[in-house]
Amino acid sequence: MQQRLSLLVDLSTLLAREVDFETLLGAACERITDAVSAERATIWLIDAENGDLFTKVAMLPEAPGLRQKKARGIAAWVAENGETVRVDDVAKDVRFDPSVDKITGFRTRTIVAAPIRERNDGPVRGVLQVLNKAGEGARFDDEDTRYVEALAEQLGRVFSLTTLRPADKEGRGLTLRGPFNRIVGRSAELTQVYERVQLAAQTDATVLLSGETGTGKGLFSRAIHVNSKRQAGPFVTVDCTTLPSQLFESEVFGHERGAFTGADRKVPGRVETANGGTLFFDEIGELPLELQKKLLRLIQDRVYERVGGRETLHADIRIVCATHRDLATEVRAGRFREDLFYRIRVVEISVPPLRVRGEDEITELIAHFSTIYAKRYERPELVIPKKLRDALVRYTWPGNVRELEHWVESAVVLSPKGEVTEALLPSSSRSPMKLVATAPCTPEGETHGITLGLTLTAAKRAYVEATLEEAGGNKTQACKNLGISRNTLARILAGEE
Ligand SMILES: Nc1ncnc2c1ncn2[C@@H]1O[C@H](COP(=O)(O)OP(=O)(O)OP(=O)(O)O)[C@@H](O)[C@H]1O
Ligand SMILES: [Mg+2]
Repeated sequence: MQQRLSLLVDLSTLLAREVDFETLLGAACERITDAVSAERATIWLIDAENGDLFTKVAMLPEAPGLRQKKARGIAAWVAENGETVRVDDVAKDVRFDPSVDKITGFRTRTIVAAPIRERNDGPVRGVLQVLNKAGEGARFDDEDTRYVEALAEQLGRVFSLTTLRPADKEGRGLTLRGPFNRIVGRSAELTQVYERVQLAAQTDATVLLSGETGTGKGLFSRAIHVNSKRQAGPFVTVDCTTLPSQLFESEVFGHERGAFTGADRKVPGRVETANGGTLFFDEIGELPLELQKKLLRLIQDRVYERVGGRETLHADIRIVCATHRDLATEVRAGRFREDLFYRIRVVEISVPPLRVRGEDEITELIAHFSTIYAKRYERPELVIPKKLRDALVRYTWPGNVRELEHWVESAVVLSPKGEVTEALLPSSSRSPMKLVATAPCTPEGETHGITLGLTLTAAKRAYVEATLEEAGGNKTQACKNLGISRNTLARILAGEE
């Protein structure tokens, strides 16, 4: 029983991570096989598009990625009828389809198969099937059957927390929204990212993730870790934007007792904490030049010293870095060390902005977050009229997936009946005129030549000047584009507002 309970705990831990589904379902099957003393366990999923059953791995190492036409075999019968089946001798059951055994070379004798669904009266999402009770002539008993049934129901509930989501609430089956748990999107642009993440995860190579803010760099960095052989080790982040320069070295490398005033004991750094796992340098492009050179030796040779220490330590870590900047440009501008750049971009993964991933991706992400936040706030899921949906998929989403996620969250909160109205749309998506003025940020963080780091008054003035220039000096037109009066325009240009 102990083992049976810990199985469920293990599964929910796995589900909270960005593992790929193959790993997730494979691990689940492995534990289930042990827990019921079976020889095999398979999780069949129902493809919402055509009703076929499919399994990606599911302890059928002989034939990964099986597909079973609907209406064939015992699992298909369970999927169709929604009832648990126990078969003590498959040779005597006409529903048994021996064709899978022919492919795999496995000999099925006994089966328990139970429907996977979120709640008792809900639609069937898949089938959990265990084969052959271990031991000569052994059969599954009533307790095994009840346990498999309970596990199937648990799986149904946990599926609803993953990205293995039902296509629609009351319909049967599931739609696979991408290969990784918690990461949604099937566009060609994102598929390339998945491929690189999967390949990089198999090795210890240093990875550089680049992409605009909110595109999912943090998410993919964790996906690399949890799909690598270091997954059981720690994932430690160094946030280069928030770490003060004076503390950087002692935070990253640790320090010895007495290394500086106040250092009253030896403290391990992030490198040491990450031992056996992954060290993630987030926003590495923000690191001041003088600190950049301190990372060279660590990244090149995996060796370092604690502040105030003489001993050279070895770091058993994989390094992943992320930045929203174009580091090649930063190198040319003399703001980023060329040698560091070449060392961190062994594998470069560029995460595309949301606006180039296509309309389906936006729709899918809205549905994904709508389910999550509707559940969290106990509100209905969003219903978006066609006209407004069009505006949403055309919108440029300068804050990318994060902006979309926040928009969905606020829309769920602000629409108790789930109906989205025009007033709820992101403000700059409402009128196409304004879209022209909100050109997306370039990687350097400039918009129409406005450099970040200005006071708000100065930024407003620069923005208004740029809009005026765009309007060919026509003040009436500029005021219209900006949605302000001539008086306001004059005050801003005079630097008074
Ligand atoms: N494809 C995706 N599927 C599901 N959620 C996503 C996806 N991409 C991003 N998100 C979510 O969007 C939010 C922003 O993602 P994340 O923090 O990884 O972006 P980022 O590129 O690191 O942004 P920043 O540059 O601002 O740090 C997170 O809540 C993340 O879970
Ligand atoms: Mg981030």
